[in-house]
Amino acid sequence: MTLKLEIWKNQNELYNRAVEIISEQLMSGAKTFGLATGGTMIPLYKNLRNSKLDFSHCQSVNLDEYVGVSKDHPESYYTFMRSHLFDAKPFKVTNIPDGVAEDIQKESKAYENLLKSLTVDLQILGVGENGHIGFNEPGTAFTSETHVVELTTSTREANARFFQSIEEVPKLAITMGISSILRAECILLLAIGEKKRPAIEALLKGKITEDIPVTSILQHSNVILLTDLSIEEEG
Ligand code: GLP
Repeated sequence: MTLKLEIWKNQNELYNRAVEIISEQLMSGAKTFGLATGGTMIPLYKNLRNSKLDFSHCQSVNLDEYVGVSKDHPESYYTFMRSHLFDAKPFKVTNIPDGVAEDIQKESKAYENLLKSLTVDLQILGVGENGHIGFNEPGTAFTSETHVVELTTSTREANARFFQSIEEVPKLAITMGISSILRAECILLLAIGEKKRPAIEALLKGKITEDIPVTSILQHSNVILLTDLSIEEEG
């Protein structure tokens, strides 16, 4: 396990550091980026939009998408990625699971096959308040591949802020599995705000448990964690 912990109390500095890491990856030849959504990513993508970085020769794979939400829905992750990043910073190819595919099981399988056909050089990750990564909720097997998930009440409540009401938050999503995520060469995890403290403290305690999906990244050999939380690594 190699987890490099960097604590940046100033969020602007933290996001600048994240852009610097992405830039270093690009300069060292990275061409495939695993991308995430969620509030944590909004300032990161703003900084990328305002940067000189060029992704026009790169491809992206997104972690997840809501099921039953059309691409043009304002809260689809497709719309999120277009408005926060892709419209301003085009990639050669972008990939996001199709949440309105006729057969979502088949779509999950096809997405996993796509992932297996490439190497993600850098996977950018956020973390849910309950420790989820992508939409891999607590209890998900670390061997999981891309699959359809039922979102927990906690996740739907956390994401309700993006919708008119909690009833509108989809109940299902397609997500890369934990094993799909861990195949990336390098993982950049961003955890900002006190709500993420329990998940990050559990991670830094070093106990690997399926009850807290983010702890799966302790099995990976190249992880960078950027956080604004003042916490000490306990080993
Ligand atoms: C969402 C996404 C995750 C994201 C997480 C945290 O549900 N599926 O990929 O990391 O929740 O979101 P936020 O950054 O808004 O706290």
